[in-house]
Amino acid sequence: MTRDAFFVTTPIYYVNDVPHIGHAYTSIAADVMARFHRLSGRPTRFLTGTDEHGQKVETAAGKAGKSPKQFADDVVVHFKELWKTLKISHDRLIRTTDADHEAFVAILWEKMRQAGDIYHGDYEGWYCVHDETFWTQGQLLEGNLCPNPWCKRPVSKHKETSYFFRLSKYTQPLLDYYAAHPDFVLPDFRMNEVRSFVQQGLNDLSISRSNFSWGIPVPGDPKHVIYVWVDALANYIAGAGYMHDQKMYETFWPADVHLIGKDILRFHAVFWPAFLMSAGLPLPAHVFAHGFWTIEGQKMSKSLGNWIDPNDMIRAYGLDPLRFYLMREIPLGADGDFSQAALVGRINSDLANDLGNLLSRSLAMVGKYLDGVVPAPTAGDSPLARLCLDAEARCFAAIAECNTHRALLAAWDIISRANKYIDEAAPWVLAKDAAKKRELEGVLYDLLEAQRRLAMLLWPFMPDTAEKMLAQLGVAPKAVKPGNWGELAQGTTVRRGEALFPRIETKAPAPAADAPKAAEPAPAAGAAPEGVAIVSYDDFARLQFKVGVVLEAERVPKADKLLKLLVDTGEKRTIVAGVAQHYAPEAMIGRQIVVLCNLAPRALRGIESHGMLLAAKDKEGHLKLLTIDGPLPAGSSIS
Ligand code: ME8
Repeated sequence: MTRDAFFVTTPIYYVNDVPHIGHAYTSIAADVMARFHRLSGRPTRFLTGTDEHGQKVETAAGKAGKSPKQFADDVVVHFKELWKTLKISHDRLIRTTDADHEAFVAILWEKMRQAGDIYHGDYEGWYCVHDETFWTQGQLLEGNLCPNPWCKRPVSKHKETSYFFRLSKYTQPLLDYYAAHPDFVLPDFRMNEVRSFVQQGLNDLSISRSNFSWGIPVPGDPKHVIYVWVDALANYIAGAGYMHDQKMYETFWPADVHLIGKDILRFHAVFWPAFLMSAGLPLPAHVFAHGFWTIEGQKMSKSLGNWIDPNDMIRAYGLDPLRFYLMREIPLGADGDFSQAALVGRINSDLANDLGNLLSRSLAMVGKYLDGVVPAPTAGDSPLARLCLDAEARCFAAIAECNTHRALLAAWDIISRANKYIDEAAPWVLAKDAAKKRELEGVLYDLLEAQRRLAMLLWPFMPDTAEKMLAQLGVAPKAVKPGNWGELAQGTTVRRGEALFPRIETKAPAPAADAPKAAEPAPAAGAAPEGVAIVSYDDFARLQFKVGVVLEAERVPKADKLLKLLVDTGEKRTIVAGVAQHYAPEAMIGRQIVVLCNLAPRALRGIESHGMLLAAKDKEGHLKLLTIDGPLPAGSSIS
């Protein structure tokens, strides 16, 4: 990704049904990437679309008593409306029934034919209509089920004359390409999967169908329609402008990232590059396969009744909380489980408590001590400035690697640090001493400027929230760009508004027998006493503490405070702990310690730390580890 322009695509979704939370997930992740690249000033193109031909859509249309085109026209409205509701900022929604797309598919076919890669033959095998995929007998599960783990539906036997693509010819060229471009498929473990699949040797691929008619006719042989995956993949080039805007095509193709779910990796990382090689067209830079969401542990399906309509989630929790939850809960690439309880947890803790309280506390203090007017910046070096600039750099660097999750965590570092900065600087103490007025102003300026910049980093994830933050800070929404620290103008009037995220009250789980009878009622966001972050019982209950046993310990080179520990907490994890000045590595081994397990991973001196061990510190800084009063197995829970 070194050229100036940036082009990201989503899959084009089937219109056999209305969109669900999985479709929303991919589109939001692509939206976050597109917004970040626009923010950094790169010419950006973001393409999404709908996959409207093929047997699956024809069958769904038949069931609805409509022509396939009428059916597609009706369903596509749901996609368009959802993208609008989700604030997806695509530049085009391409439909495979669009004229320029259909024209390009015929051109692609011709190019592959002229390369000698298409021949006529007989196909006999199995077909999964749901996945629009051919399978051989040996690949089927239990004799007649689709082997795609996300499908497993019964397949049907097919025998028809068909055109074939010489995929086998591309086995070695693809392997050579992967060797030369080891980051073609991301994350890297997916590259390994694809490579192993291709190493087994590729069979030629049937690329036309003749026993139904809803598709693009094969040039010169209209009894056949082009296989829906050849048709669908072509959208990426048609949507770059190949047929109607040569300049746009030259600016944006090849795409930087085809963002897809792991279910359709083979089509994108094997078939698509082979088609492009055959047609003599440039290959995309990266195919990023993200993970899949299950719903409270199960595959999402209408028959199981756990189909999640994103519109319902937005009505219940709001748009930005949903966008945030989907991006925060799992790293892009990993699988995850969608749970409304976890979504509420994120709203109450990350959004209301961390982010909402930060803005509300800061503006309350500017209102109280400075009449709501932005003071002059700090004269000297500001600790928050350094932190913000570093977090911004990490955030954009993460996005360059499609790591939306790490980008969000980098933005959150500003929130955590700024909240701590309030506690440390204690503006309410400075305000009591007239001689400390400049110091007070400096602290409050830093807090406001940090949040102005924070709004920029949050905008791709939560556009409405970022704009609300800027409005409260008295800044025009378009005014925030990466740039110098200190651009928040002195004299600006801030306007403390409503809490960004009202807390959602939940029933606390039944307390353990020895727990206090009633939890303190949680204050509304924005009502926490100055300087003190109040956590609700719910927030506390989300922390997972376990007994850990230290298996290995070593000093971290060039960091005199840090030890790198391998800890057994039921599973082995690396923790980087700031205890080296108090405990020698040998003294740590075998100790039973208390570990906070569900802390977001954090890199310290290049080592990813998964969790935190707990220790007590006295005023002189002497540190003692928290231990367990008697032996318990590693991984025992602490509550
Ligand atoms: O496959 N979790 O369309 P499709 C996360 N038309 N993402 C999910 C998901 C889940 N549970 N379920 C679906 C097609 N997705 C073809 C694509 S592209 C040239 C043609 C997302 O409607 C994910 O991005 O079945 C997945 O790859 C895509 O929806 C499949 O959408």
